[in-house]
Amino acid sequence: MDRRIKTILRAGITDELVTVRGWIRTRRDTGSFSFLEVNDGSSLANIQVIADKTLENYDREIIRLSAGCSVIVTGLLQKSPAKGQDVELNAESVEVLGWADPDTYPLQKKRHSLEFLRTISHLRPRTNALGAVTRVRSRLSFAINTFFQEREFVQVHTPVITTSDCEGAGEMFQVHATGEKDKNNKPFFGSQAGLTVSGQLQAEVYALALGQVYTFGPTFRAENSNTSRHLAEFWMLEPEMAFCDLACNMKLATDLLKYVLRDVLENCSEDLALFNSFIEKGLLQKLQDVVEKDFVHITYSAAVEKLSSLKDIFDFPVQWGIDLQSEHERYLTEKVYKCPVIVTDYPAGIKPFYMRLSDDGKTVAAMDILVPGIGELVGGSQREERLDVLTRRMVEAGIDIKEYDWYLDLRRYGTVPHAGFGLGFERLVQFVTGMSNIREAIPFPRTPGFAPC
Ligand code: 4AD
Ligand code: MG
Repeated sequence: MDRRIKTILRAGITDELVTVRGWIRTRRDTGSFSFLEVNDGSSLANIQVIADKTLENYDREIIRLSAGCSVIVTGLLQKSPAKGQDVELNAESVEVLGWADPDTYPLQKKRHSLEFLRTISHLRPRTNALGAVTRVRSRLSFAINTFFQEREFVQVHTPVITTSDCEGAGEMFQVHATGEKDKNNKPFFGSQAGLTVSGQLQAEVYALALGQVYTFGPTFRAENSNTSRHLAEFWMLEPEMAFCDLACNMKLATDLLKYVLRDVLENCSEDLALFNSFIEKGLLQKLQDVVEKDFVHITYSAAVEKLSSLKDIFDFPVQWGIDLQSEHERYLTEKVYKCPVIVTDYPAGIKPFYMRLSDDGKTVAAMDILVPGIGELVGGSQREERLDVLTRRMVEAGIDIKEYDWYLDLRRYGTVPHAGFGLGFERLVQFVTGMSNIREAIPFPRTPGFAPC
């Protein structure tokens, strides 16, 4: 609902001439007038319009309006005698801008499945559920930016095209110019470039100059896994802080999550109530609990000890040295602790080269934050700031250190302990909206075999 109309409603002022621009949801006719439900996209609430037969285009147009038609309605906002709504708009004019053929318009009055709506990603934001997800996503993005700006972090726009594979997992999409290579048969950028899997390495550059930075943008992974929590294109928030260790990193991530959840609970209550009723019962309580209760912190070794005693429950048996699978992560956060769990000190062998090696020589100063319903929401670490250890780790990982000379320079010149993390933004949207599939958490999902629009 348009902000001015909301203000009018809040102040209880009626008999005001207002204009509503939006799309018809339904039309119902009586003998002498029609009821039009109009939604302008700003909230779940429709404005009920009374269009009287005496309007000049009533027989010609109004009587033919159906779901999806676009209209501009001007009229008096008046107290409604009907139950379930406070006001109605008594139309003085109903201008029809665009028609939507009721025989072919895919969004009918019934409830459509989320799977079906994915096949029409260009129309699904017109539904209550996907409109609400989009508003909540926008607010979460705003809250994240506000959190960091209030703390004087500097936002850095790290590149989308890069030659470095931060995670070293071989999941980069390659970038080629159309028309193939240039005359010298060299790749466009000199060496083979791809779409970034993470902005972290470049964020480190700026953290070691500006102190506290964050990058928040699209990242890409050619992961051929069709799961409910993986996308080929997803948005990642990545703060990076100089003079910060693992404990400081954990604290920032915890403060951030509590802050953004408190913010959406306050500012998106109507949309969250819809999810609480139709998508995940108990959602509001779950979010409130995260805001209020402490997160659990355990080490990877302690988690493995707990999980390995439950052998028959899992498809993948747990033993020290394995990467925790989603089933293990979810068991910890949903069954054992029933709250967000921070797991730290993973084996060096299953984590990327940049994580700081601990004194035991076996583990790294890594942290993952697991949340119910999702599993891993955040992955981060203290970074290896010692030139000799980092160089050794990179060589062991088979990385060509000449290509990363710039990254090693950060350790040659004025190195400091530093840390950061990556938060998968769609997983956060999933957690907040209760959507069980990540494809609902982004406007245009890209997954193997699927990238329409
Ligand atoms: O754990 P990841 O791979 O960590 C990094 O990329 C680090 N460089 C981040 C850092 O320290 N600055 O990814 C971070 C988060 C995961 O915890 C997960 O929430 C999300 O990104 N993520 C994905 N989300 C959707 N689809 C995918 N394919 C994802 N892969 C990771
Ligand atoms: Mg991870």
